[in-house]
Amino acid sequence: MAEVKIGILGAGGIAKVHTSILKQDERVKIIGIADIVEERAAALAQEVGDATAVGNIEALFDLGVDAVYVTTPNTLHVEPVLMCLQNDIHVFSEKPMATSLAEAEQIKAVAATSKAIYNLGMNRRYASVYKRIKELIDAGELTPFLANIKMNRGELLHPAWTANPQVTGGFLYETPFHLIDLSRYLFGDVETVRCEARQNISESELDTFAILLTFASGMVATFVTYAHAGWSFPFESLEVYGKYSTVSTQELEKVMVSLGLNQAAQIHDFYQRSIEDKWGYVEEDRLFIDAIVNGSKPPVTAEDGFRSIQLLEAIMESAKTGNTIDLGQKV
Ligand SMILES: NC(=O)c1ccc[n+]([C@@H]2O[C@H](COP(=O)([O-])OP(=O)(O)OC[C@H]3O[C@@H](n4cnc5c(N)ncnc54)[C@H](O)[C@@H]3O)[C@@H](O)[C@H]2O)c1
Repeated sequence: MAEVKIGILGAGGIAKVHTSILKQDERVKIIGIADIVEERAAALAQEVGDATAVGNIEALFDLGVDAVYVTTPNTLHVEPVLMCLQNDIHVFSEKPMATSLAEAEQIKAVAATSKAIYNLGMNRRYASVYKRIKELIDAGELTPFLANIKMNRGELLHPAWTANPQVTGGFLYETPFHLIDLSRYLFGDVETVRCEARQNISESELDTFAILLTFASGMVATFVTYAHAGWSFPFESLEVYGKYSTVSTQELEKVMVSLGLNQAAQIHDFYQRSIEDKWGYVEEDRLFIDAIVNGSKPPVTAEDGFRSIQLLEAIMESAKTGNTIDLGQKV
C-alpha cells in the first residue's frame, strides 16, 4: 500500500502524542487535523508540518484520508467512529470505546461488517511494566492467584471537564478504564464482579470504588479506584502474587519481579525511557499502522474493547444494586 494518509479528529493533549509518533513513521503522512476550535487545529497542523487544518470529520474525508485518529473527549467517540467504519475508513479510537454498553455494541456490529479496521487505543497493554508482567504470565514463569490493583486520580479539577460525567461518561471511563481493560488482558475472562461505591467529594457522581473480581482461571483480584487522592505516588500500581512469587509495579516506571524463595528480586526501571515509549503509545501506533499496511490483526479489536465496556458496566451495576454480577453468563 502507498503511504497511509492520516487525519486527526480532536487536536488536544493526546493528539499531540500520537502525531509526534506518527510523524516519525515513514509509512504514514498526516494530511489533516480537525478540531471544533479552529486555532487548535491550526496550531497542531503547523506543528505537524504540511497538514491541512479543518473543522470536522467530513472535511477530513474530503481530504482523502485512509485512516482517522479519533481523539475527541470520551463521550464524542462513537459518532465519528461509526462514520469512519461506514465509509470504510480505518479508525483508531482513543479510549474509551464508548460510554455505554449499547453504543459499544453498535460499534462492534458495524466494525464486523466494515472493510475498514477498528482499533481501540489501550496503551497500557504496551506499557513497559505491564508488558513485563504479560511476558512472565505467558511464559509460565508467573501463575497469578491473587492481584491487588490500584488506579487513583489526584483530583477532578484540572481540566475542569474531568468532573463532568456528560463529557467523561463517569469517573470509571476516565483513567480507571485503563486498568479495567488491563485486568482482562493480563488475567483473562472475568467471571464475577462485586463493587461497593460511594460519592464522597464529587458533586454529581460516584468517586470511590472497592471492587472484587473473580476470573475464569480461579484467580481473584481486588481493585480500588478513587478520584481525589491528591496525586500521591504511586497512584497507579499492580501487585500480582503467584507461588512464592510477587510482581509489583510503581506507576509506569518500575516493576519488581520476585519469582522464588531465597532468590534476589529483579527491578526493571524504565525511568529514562520517553513517555511515548514506556507508556506504550509508540507500540500501539506501530501495531495499528502494521494492521493497515500488512493486514495483521489490530492490537485491540472492537470485540475485545466491547468486553472491557461490559466489565465496566458490570462494576457500575453492582455498585448501584449491591448485587454480585455474573459476567460468565453474559459472554
Ligand atoms: N490513552 C491515554 O493514555 C490517554 C491520555 C489522555 C487522553 N486520552 C483520551 O483521549 C481523548 C482526548 O483527551 P485529551 O486529553 O486529548 O483531551 P483534550 O481536551 O486535550 O482534547 C480534546 C480536543 O477535542 C476537541 N473537540 C471536542 N469536540 C470536538 C468535536 N466534536 N469535533 C472535533 N474536535 C472536538 C477539543 O476542542 C480539544 O481540542 C479522551 O477520550 C481521553 O480519554 C487517552
